Amino acid sequence: MTYNEGMLREGALNGKTIIVTGGGTGLGKSMSAYFMKLGANVVICSRKQDVLEQAAKELTESTGGNIFYVTCDVRKPEQIENVIQKTVEKFGRVDGLANNSAGNFISPTERLSYKAVDTVVDIVLRGTYYFTLALGKYWIENNIKGTVLNISTTYAWTGSGWVVPSAMAKAGVLAMTKSLAFEWARHGIRLNAIAPGPFPTKGAWDRLFPKELTKKFSFENRIPLARTGEHQELTNLAAYLMSDFSAYMTGEVITLDGGEVLAAGQFNFLKEVTDDQWDVIEEQVRNNARGGKTAE
Ligand code: HXC
Ligand code: NAP
Repeated sequence: MTYNEGMLREGALNGKTIIVTGGGTGLGKSMSAYFMKLGANVVICSRKQDVLEQAAKELTESTGGNIFYVTCDVRKPEQIENVIQKTVEKFGRVDGLANNSAGNFISPTERLSYKAVDTVVDIVLRGTYYFTLALGKYWIENNIKGTVLNISTTYAWTGSGWVVPSAMAKAGVLAMTKSLAFEWARHGIRLNAIAPGPFPTKGAWDRLFPKELTKKFSFENRIPLARTGEHQELTNLAAYLMSDFSAYMTGEVITLDGGEVLAAGQFNFLKEVTDDQWDVIEEQVRNNARGGKTAE
């Protein structure tokens, strides 16, 4: 057994129809593949028709499951409603939504135009609440106990410089997750989120870790578990949160980052201290405690 293997039992998502925004690439594509393997009907949507078409073809071949795609800019409510309508026409109903679409890039904030900030915030925050609102109305009207999974980031909690529009928007997504989890629990609708650390995808790496930066930036040093995430690790968690196995969980945000976000711990700088240095330090500390003088 390894962490690269599927975790849920066969058929765990049988009979469910799940919409995955941004499902043609990266983590969205990996989640779609695993949902299909577990028996779900999947609908992927995003802006680029050619990307969606190719992904749908690949996923059909690799999983043998049911998928179709609808182009949609998540900043446009009428296009979101069209995705829902087409999904209902094709599969009869919608049970789940993975809000995975995002826009992001690194930049000193003072260099950003107003439009640049709007672009990221609109895709991440507006897109997520538009889609959630549209499906929530549909679920409540049709008495369906729907499930939402929001893909957030760890800096939604901590904040982060150089990705400020994304941090603001993802923080808003977390507030929505928890707020609606409470409000819509009475309709049986659940909302949870995953806060992933770095999981290699072309979309994120091209915009956040360009070559110039990766030379200076070592994931092995940054991440306590000394590696980036594997897509199957994230899709295992996503499938669990989409499935009825997590029926008692709502409003939860699960961090999956190899411990990266824990770096803020006040004494974590002691990671650099060697065993020899610890011998000296221990002696000094014990000596101090006995009221002795600190060694020079
Ligand atoms: C400064 C920039 C810029 C950059 C674009 N802009 N890139 N400003 N630095 N690198 C500005 C443009 O000049 C323009 O403003 C405004 O942003 C909109 O740009 P467009 O290219 O017209 O927008 P659009 O075609 O809608 O593209 C959206 C996008 C793009 C966000 C800019 O990168 C995109 O399509 N991204 C989707 C995929 C993605 O981002 N994936 C990564 C998710 S990873 P002006 O004023 O000049 O008109 C993620 C993980 C985080 O979120 C955690 C990792 C560990
Ligand atoms: P990605 O492949 O670039 O995925 C982003 C997706 O969003 C693309 O499929 C893109 O498709 C879609 N999208 C962008 N703008 C859209 C719009 N206006 N309307 C509809 N869809 C739109 O990057 P990823 O790494 O897989 O990221 C997936 C999710 O994980 C994001 O929410 C991201 O913030 C989160 N995340 C990723 C990491 C990581 O390390 N990879 C870490 C933390 C969080 P189109 O271009 O076709 O529209």
